[in-house]
Amino acid sequence: MNLTQLLNDMTLDEKIDQFIQLATFFYAGAETQGEITGPMEDMGISQEIIRNSGSVLGASGAKEVKNIQKVHLENNRLGIPLLMMADIVHGFKTIFPVPLAIGCSWDEELAERSAEIAAKEAAVSGVHVTFAPMVDLVRDPRWGRVMETTGEDPYLNSRFAKAFVRGFQGDDLTNDTDRVAACVKHFAAYGAPEGGRDYNTVNMSERELREYYLPAYKAALDEGCEMVMTAFNTVDGIPATGNKKLMRDLLREEWDFNGVMISDWGAVKELIPHGIAADESEAAFKAINAGVDIEMMTACYVKNLKDLVEAEEVKEELIDEAVIRILELKEKLGLFENPYRGADEQLEKEVIMSTEHREVAYELATKSCVLLKNEEILPLQKDKKIALIGPFANNGDILGQWSWQGSKEESVKIYEGMTNKVGIANVLTARGSGIDSATDDQFAEAVKIAKKADVIVLALGEKSEMSGEAGSRSNIRLPDVQLKLIEEMKKLNKPIVSVLINGRPLDLHGVYEESDGILEGWFPGTEGGRAIADLLYGDVNPSGRLTMSFPYNVGQVPVYYNHYNTGRPKDAPDAQDRYVSQYLDIPNEPLFPFGFGLSYTNYQYSDLTLSTDHLTANDEIEVSVKVKNVGSTKGEEVVQLYVRDLVGEVVRPLKELKAYQKIKLNPGEEREITFSLTEEQLRYYHADLSFESDTGKFKVFVGPNSRECLEQSFDLRK
Ligand code: GLC
Repeated sequence: MNLTQLLNDMTLDEKIDQFIQLATFFYAGAETQGEITGPMEDMGISQEIIRNSGSVLGASGAKEVKNIQKVHLENNRLGIPLLMMADIVHGFKTIFPVPLAIGCSWDEELAERSAEIAAKEAAVSGVHVTFAPMVDLVRDPRWGRVMETTGEDPYLNSRFAKAFVRGFQGDDLTNDTDRVAACVKHFAAYGAPEGGRDYNTVNMSERELREYYLPAYKAALDEGCEMVMTAFNTVDGIPATGNKKLMRDLLREEWDFNGVMISDWGAVKELIPHGIAADESEAAFKAINAGVDIEMMTACYVKNLKDLVEAEEVKEELIDEAVIRILELKEKLGLFENPYRGADEQLEKEVIMSTEHREVAYELATKSCVLLKNEEILPLQKDKKIALIGPFANNGDILGQWSWQGSKEESVKIYEGMTNKVGIANVLTARGSGIDSATDDQFAEAVKIAKKADVIVLALGEKSEMSGEAGSRSNIRLPDVQLKLIEEMKKLNKPIVSVLINGRPLDLHGVYEESDGILEGWFPGTEGGRAIADLLYGDVNPSGRLTMSFPYNVGQVPVYYNHYNTGRPKDAPDAQDRYVSQYLDIPNEPLFPFGFGLSYTNYQYSDLTLSTDHLTANDEIEVSVKVKNVGSTKGEEVVQLYVRDLVGEVVRPLKELKAYQKIKLNPGEEREITFSLTEEQLRYYHADLSFESDTGKFKVFVGPNSRECLEQSFDLRK
C-alpha cells in the first residue's frame, strides 16, 4: 500500500477521524458491548466520524470482529481498515497468573511463552493489538494495579517487559494467527501515585524517574514494542498525556520512538479536570503537541483539531505525522492486504483453551506461588484428612482483574484440585465465611468439619475487584470476617495452612502468627486450583520468590529493598537507641523482603569468589558461588546477585539486583554458578542526569533473597 498516496487522498476530516478509538458498541456488526474499563459519557459524535474512525477498543471474537470490519469497509470511503485493540494482559481465554505472580516465577522463558499463547488465542479471535505489557514499577501495595506489574525492581521488570513483548509480537507481525502488536503502558510512573490511590498525583525528581521508573518502558521499546499508552497521572506537575517534555522530547526525540502513542481511556479530556486545559480544544492542542496519536474514548481530537488546523494553531504536518504512524501500524499488521487478518472461527475452536495452553498456565502457576512460611506442616500427607475452609475453597474467582475473556466457571478451583489428587474422602470442605461477610451457620459448619480433620487448610483472600484498576485499599489486611475465621479455627489447636488468593502484598496481621504454613497463591489463573494442590501435597516444590516486599503493616508503606541508607541508619555500629531512622513499634525491614521464598528443601551457599578485586571499564569480574541442595527434595532455586555502590555522587541504594539465575538442583547436588559483572552495570543517573559509573568501592552480594547474602568487595577503577 502506498501510504503517502493514501494520506494525500485523505481529507482533513478523514485524517483526524483516524485518531479516535471507540468501544465495540459504537459499531454496527458488534454483538457485544466489549470491555468497559472507564467512564462512559455521550460523546456527541456523528456517524460520519464512526465511519472514518481508526481503531476499536475491546472487540474480540472472530465472527464479531469480521462483522465490524466488513460493515466498516463498506462505509469507509477509502477502505481504510480498523485496528482492533484489547486488554490481553495475562492471557486471553486461557488465563495465566496475574503479572505480579508471573514476576515471582523469575522465569522469563515461561513468561514469554504465556504471552505467546495469549497472542495466539487473541489473534485467531481477531485482535490486532494488546494493551500490554504493563510495566509500571511499584512500591505501594495500597495501589490496586500492583497485580498487573512484575514488581519493585527496575532490572527484573525490564527483563520481563522484554519477555512479554517477544511473546506477544514475535519477530513478524504479519504472522497473523500467532502474534499481535504490543503496547507498553502506562507511560510514565503510573505505579507511584501518592497514597497508593489510583489516578493520584505522582511526584518525583527526573533523576528518580529515570533511575527506577523508566527502564522497563525503555526495555519494552528496545525489544520492538509497537505502541505506548500514556498514563493518567501527572509527572512533575504535568499530566503525562499532555506532557510534551515526557512524550515528545524524551520518548520521541531522546528515545527515538516513532511508533503509535495512544492515550489511556479518556485521558485526553481529563487534562481539563487536571487543570491544564480550559476546554476540549485546549486538551486536544496539548495532547497532539505532546505527541499522542490516538485518543481513547473521548472526542477532543475529532471535535476540535480541524478548527485548530484551520486557525493555524496546529500544523497539518503534525496531523499527517500521527496519521502515518497509525497507517504504518496497519500496514505492519498486514491489514491493507487482509483486513480480517487472523480472525478464524475454526482456529478459535482448535486453539483456545487447548490442553497445551492449559498445561503452560498450570506450570506457570506452580512457579509463581510463593511459600512464605512452613513450620514443618507442608507438604501435606495424602492420607491425612484435610478440612479445606474459606471463601476461596471452592471459588472460581482466581483469575484476577484483566481476565475479561477468561471463564471463572472453567477455572480449576482449589477444592477440585485437591480432591482430584487425594479423593473427596480426604478433603472435607466448608465456606466458613464469605470474602467480607459471614453467617454464624457458616462458622459453625467450618468448626464442625475442622474438628474431623488432621490439618486445616484455609483458602483466604481478596475478591478480584479488591485489586486491579480503581482497586486501591487503605487497609491491606484480609477482611475482618476472614481474620475472625482464622481465630475460630485457631481455637481448635490443629495445624493451619493458609493459602492466599490476592492481588497485592497484604498486611498479614492475624494470619502470619496464626498459620503454621502460608502459601501465597496470588490470582493463579485458569489452572490455579490444580497448581495449588500440587504445591500443597509436594508433587511440585515451591520455587516462587517475591518481587514485591510484604510490609509489616500499611504504616510501613512504601517499603522496598533497594532503599537508601539515610544519615542515621538504625543498624549502624554506633547507632544510638533513639535518634536513628526507625519506627517505635515495628522493624524497618518488611515482613518478607524482595526475592524471598521458601522451598521444601534447603539450599546452602558457599565460596562466593571474585575473579579479581578490581574492575575497569574494559573488563569484567567473574562472580562465582556454590549452591548445594542439602535437603531431600529436588527443587528450583533463584540465585540472586546484587551490588552496592558505597560512595556515589548521589546516595545509592543498599542493594541493586543486577543478575539472577533460576537453577534446578537434585538432593545433594552442588553447582557452581557464575555471573559476569561489568562497569556498565554500575552506571547510574548523576545529579546532572549524566548516566555513568563512579570509581570507588563496591560490594557484591549473592544469595537466595535480598536479605540473606554472601558478600565480597571490589574496586571500580578508571
Ligand atoms: C483502562 C486502563 C488501561 C486499559 C484501558 C483500555 O482505563 O487504565 O490499562 O488498557 O483502559 O481498557
